Amino acid sequence: MSQYSYKITGGNSLRGDINISGSKNAVLGVLAAAMMIDGKCTLENVPDISDVQVMIELCNTLGATISSEKSEDGSLTLDIDPRTINTYKATGPAVSKIRASYYLLGALLARCGKASLRMPGGCNFGQRPIDLHLKAFADMGATGARPEDINGGIITLEANPLRGARIFLDIVSVGATINVMLAATKAEGMTIITNAAKEPHIVDVANFLNAMGAKIKGAGTDTIRITGVPVLPGNFSYSIIPDQIEAGTYMIAAAVTDGDVTIHNMIPTHMEPLSSKMREMGYTVEENEDNDSIRVYRKEGAVIRGTNIKTSPYPGFPTDLQPQAVVLQCLSKGVSKMHENVWQNRFQYIPELTRMGASINVYDRIALIEGIERFKGATVVATDLRAGAALVCAALAADGTSFITQARKIDRGYENIVQKLKSLGADIERTESPEYEPDAEA
Ligand code: EPZ
Repeated sequence: MSQYSYKITGGNSLRGDINISGSKNAVLGVLAAAMMIDGKCTLENVPDISDVQVMIELCNTLGATISSEKSEDGSLTLDIDPRTINTYKATGPAVSKIRASYYLLGALLARCGKASLRMPGGCNFGQRPIDLHLKAFADMGATGARPEDINGGIITLEANPLRGARIFLDIVSVGATINVMLAATKAEGMTIITNAAKEPHIVDVANFLNAMGAKIKGAGTDTIRITGVPVLPGNFSYSIIPDQIEAGTYMIAAAVTDGDVTIHNMIPTHMEPLSSKMREMGYTVEENEDNDSIRVYRKEGAVIRGTNIKTSPYPGFPTDLQPQAVVLQCLSKGVSKMHENVWQNRFQYIPELTRMGASINVYDRIALIEGIERFKGATVVATDLRAGAALVCAALAADGTSFITQARKIDRGYENIVQKLKSLGADIERTESPEYEPDAEA
């Protein structure tokens, strides 16, 4: 099925246990980092999602040798040997399918001293420039990094060679932080990144780079120091951290269906921004003592009240949980506010929620949400990955049946979402798209 939908009949409270898969936003950076190794490596707990398949395809087109095996839990184990890479060019059409393809700029600059990339793609929520990446590469001595050097949508950078530099990111950027870490790994001398992003996936990429033989200190703080090394021996195994955003999505799905779900194989401290907001609203969020699972439910008689949320870089409330959290706010008492501080326009899913009965007004980067009793099933469109996940949550809680079209966008970041939700009692199946498909703005 090229275009397909998810058909969901709401009203079942989700109950039971699920396991979280490996982090999409960690593994995309790790796969690019693996292209720099002067040896081999094995990657475990890799989520079997379409963004990973695209990144593997991109690495294969460079000439890297990657074999993949599916584990019992549904995750992938990859054996990677980048020594067969035979080009510095990543300019095929697949590059435009995902934004994380831009990590190949840093990786190929480090490996080949040259990198050529078609401008990346990714979710469409307003401006998604890569000026901070290019400015950092220029500060490290790369040529071809000025906007006027972009030729026909292709960026070609050359290191002569890359030298360590002091890089200040004037916007906290996950992508730029990771890309500079990649390029600096084999640059001459020390690179210091200040105002760096601190997301869990930044730390995971840095840990992977150090396992390869890199010398990186401070990942997870706003100052990261990278001492360039000449060789990255590799020859190790590495397991990807659990996906913070997948875990948060299932926490919200449990809550909005008035369920009782324990989410396993996750890192509770990564969830703190969401856990504290859900407790503030009246949900019970319990971290177990093994510190690898969270239980979400509503105590008998607990009233769920609205709350105000502002997204910001980690450890703030993650923008990638913003659409899902708005669904939570819709099903609470009173008026709530969602302030989207990271992306220019990440409310494109709201007309879809309105079709399901939501009462939301958007003023630039602020959404005012009026609590409602129930959503009503409808045919809606997934405008992007996390918007699609939010619509799944709303459909699970709705009266009646919903069709979520362009559901392949959801599968970019959620491994086995149908099986995982069915195991919790959801009435969900994958179907051909219905006759009628609303026009998605995005
Ligand atoms: C990563 O995107 C994630 N994607 C996004 O998750 C996530 O929303 C975002 O980080 C913020 O956490 C991946 O990791 C593959 P940024 P990225 O650079 O790196 C501006 C998902 O759903 N900016 O941190 O592209 C930018 O416009 C996806 O999994 C510049 O101005 O995000 C934005 O306003 C969606 N110039 C802000 O910085 C630049 O050169 C943060 O962007 C780079 C960024």
